[in-house]
Amino acid sequence: MSIQTRPHRLSPVQIRGRKGGEKIVCLTAYTAPVARLLDEAVDLLLVGDSLAMTIYGFDSTLPVTLDMMVAHGAAVVRATQHATIVVDLPFGAYQASPEQAFRAAARVMAETGCGAVKLEGGEEMAETVAFLVKRGVPVMGHVGLTPQAVNQLGGYRSRGHGGEERRKILADGAAIAQAGAFSIVVEGVNETLGAELTAAIAVPTIGIGASPACDGQILVTDDLLGVFTEFRPKFVRQYRKLGDDIRAAAREYADDVRAGRFPAAEHTYPAPAKRAKASA
Ligand code: KIV
Repeated sequence: MSIQTRPHRLSPVQIRGRKGGEKIVCLTAYTAPVARLLDEAVDLLLVGDSLAMTIYGFDSTLPVTLDMMVAHGAAVVRATQHATIVVDLPFGAYQASPEQAFRAAARVMAETGCGAVKLEGGEEMAETVAFLVKRGVPVMGHVGLTPQAVNQLGGYRSRGHGGEERRKILADGAAIAQAGAFSIVVEGVNETLGAELTAAIAVPTIGIGASPACDGQILVTDDLLGVFTEFRPKFVRQYRKLGDDIRAAAREYADDVRAGRFPAAEHTYPAPAKRAKASA
């Protein structure tokens, strides 16, 4: 297991220290090969419960289990050396009590080697965040549009446009920062609210559909690469269209196999007689 305390890996404390400084660059990662490719470019990799959609084909994050997060978190930690690795606590694994959250977080940290966990929620989760932090678990918060609460929020619409909702999200961010989170993801909120929250709290905000004023940004890697194309939220910039490349590569392979062009001589192991003749 690659343990996060190695000196070359960024720590949650260093991320915390970047408040108001150099922008914090974050992406999601779920598998070893992709995490290995992303590691050098970013400061933080989140093993997000968005893997429900991007990897497992569910239509919400609710079916994700702790076992799934542990398996993907461990793979990402093994494949990386530079970024801070944060693993999401899944729905149902932490909301019941601070003690339940500690058991889940302790398992995730022990079995993956990650540097921190992330959990969703505002004022109602502040006691839990403080409980974890006091017991040695670095916590990243997540406020605004919180996908695990999709049924209560009534969908994935952006948040914080009305006065009441705005006040609540500001109070949520302040409560989680006060409780000791080392950073807070702010998702899907009115741009001025993202900026106001960033100015109001002492820990870095990591925006996703929030504001360029946030201390850092995060995107779901599959969205950025154009691999996940079922829907594209307004806040996604698609840097590549790898989905098109994958489809084209599969079509070319299929054509080659059907036409007998693959495998070619260089892809096959010659029989012993042919090998002896070739080396004579
Ligand atoms: O699960 C996830 O990928 C996330 C990001 C969208 C921040 O929580």
